[in-house]
Amino acid sequence: RKNLGVLVSGRGSNLQCIMDACAAGKIPARVAVVISDHSDAYALERARQAGIPALAVNMRDYPDKAGYELYIVEVLQKHGVHLVCLAGYMRLVGPTLLGAFAGRIMNIHPALLPSFPGLHAQEQAWRYGVKYSGCTVHFVDDGMDTGPIIMQAVVPVYDDDTVDMLTERILEQEHRIYPEAVKLYCEDKLIVEGRRVRVRV
Ligand code: GAR
Repeated sequence: RKNLGVLVSGRGSNLQCIMDACAAGKIPARVAVVISDHSDAYALERARQAGIPALAVNMRDYPDKAGYELYIVEVLQKHGVHLVCLAGYMRLVGPTLLGAFAGRIMNIHPALLPSFPGLHAQEQAWRYGVKYSGCTVHFVDDGMDTGPIIMQAVVPVYDDDTVDMLTERILEQEHRIYPEAVKLYCEDKLIVEGRRVRVRV
C-alpha cells in the first residue's frame, strides 16, 4: 500500500473522494497526511474527521516559496509519502517540491486541458462558449497545468447553463476520475512515455 500526501486549499471534496476510496479498499493506498496552505480550509476538518494528520502551512511564515515548500517536503517525507495529490491546491508548484517528488505529483483541473489552464477554468470555458468541457487529471510539471495527461472526462455545456451548473457537472466527473487515476498509479499501471501516459493492461 502506498502513502498519499494530499495538498489542498479549500473545500476538499476531491480529498474526501480519495479518502473514501482508500478506506473502502478501492485504492491500494492510505492518505498519510493532508496539508493546506490555508488554516481555515474545510479540507483540514475532513481529514481530521477521518483521523488523518492534517496541518496548515502558511506561506507568510517563510522567507520565500522555497522555504515554504522545503517544510512541506519534510512533512511529506516524514510521512513516507509516495504520491502527492493536489486537490484544489491553488498554488503553482515550485522547483523545491517538484524536485523532491519528480513524476510523483498529480493534479485535477476542472477543464479539458490544454484548454483553459489556470484559475476559474469552468468560468473561462463557459464564457468562451465551448459546447463541451470537463476535467483532467495530469502529472505536474513546471508549467501551469501543462504536465502529461493521465485521464479526462467530458461533460456537455447546455445553452441554459449557468457557471454554477457547469461547475457542478464537472465536479461530479472529478470525483469519479481522480480516485480512478490515483488507483491506477498505486497499482503501478501508469506508464509515462514523454508526454503520453498509458495504462498497462
Ligand atoms: C476542484 O474543482 C478542482 O478541480 C479545482 O478546485 C476545486 C477544488 O474543489 N482545482 C483547480 O482549479 C486547480 N487550479 P475541492 O476542494 O472540493 O476538491
